[in-house]
Amino acid sequence: MRLLLDTANLSDIRYFNEYYPIEGVTTNPTILSAEGGNVLELLSEIRAIIGWDKELHVQVTEKDFDRIIEEAIALVSFLGENTYVKIPATDVGLKATKYLSKRGYKITVTAILSEAQGMLAANAGASYVAPYVSRLDNLCADGVGTVKQISDILSFSGQKTQVLAASFKTAKEVLDVAAAGCHCATVGSSVMKNLLSHTTTDTSIARFDSDWKQAFGDVTILSLLNEGKK
Ligand code: E4P
Repeated sequence: MRLLLDTANLSDIRYFNEYYPIEGVTTNPTILSAEGGNVLELLSEIRAIIGWDKELHVQVTEKDFDRIIEEAIALVSFLGENTYVKIPATDVGLKATKYLSKRGYKITVTAILSEAQGMLAANAGASYVAPYVSRLDNLCADGVGTVKQISDILSFSGQKTQVLAASFKTAKEVLDVAAAGCHCATVGSSVMKNLLSHTTTDTSIARFDSDWKQAFGDVTILSLLNEGKK
């Protein structure tokens, strides 16, 4: 399952883009509000960090159809063609998705809270549909189950639309949607770190280092190989 980073924090984006296998960055109005400042400068800095080839998902802030279309077109011309315009799952959102996807724009229909919304968004031509896992769980619904159902519906119908699961609070939820057949997930910085970190990995590495040092001192395999070349 492919991973995107769900933040607009520049130092986090620099770090994860350098070290982790992420395919892009997702934002929403709340995520951008958390950083504050000049939003357009922030978005273009994100684009500069991740480069033109990675995905950048940005949500529309306009509400009526004509303004959403104008905003979406302006956003893509500002941030490049690998920009996914996030549009919430409403009737106006579906109309805008139909209009823009027919004209080649990549749309992520967001704030998906049901299988029916996911199906409609895919039928409207969305590139991604983004179900909100932990927000569903908080309603005593089944976030991972909803992601699985939408993934199944899309694959049964042979649609190209992919599921971009979002709104994660734990690393386990991320693994659960991967095991449920989800194509892609967007994950915040702390959950992303939790996907990698493990105390037993740390103690294992410490043990490897101390055993090696006890037997060979400060040499490394590289230093021995370089020594042999002399
Ligand atoms: C994607 O960008 C979604 O908007 C985001 O994952 C929602 O996450 P939240 O439910 O933690 O706000």
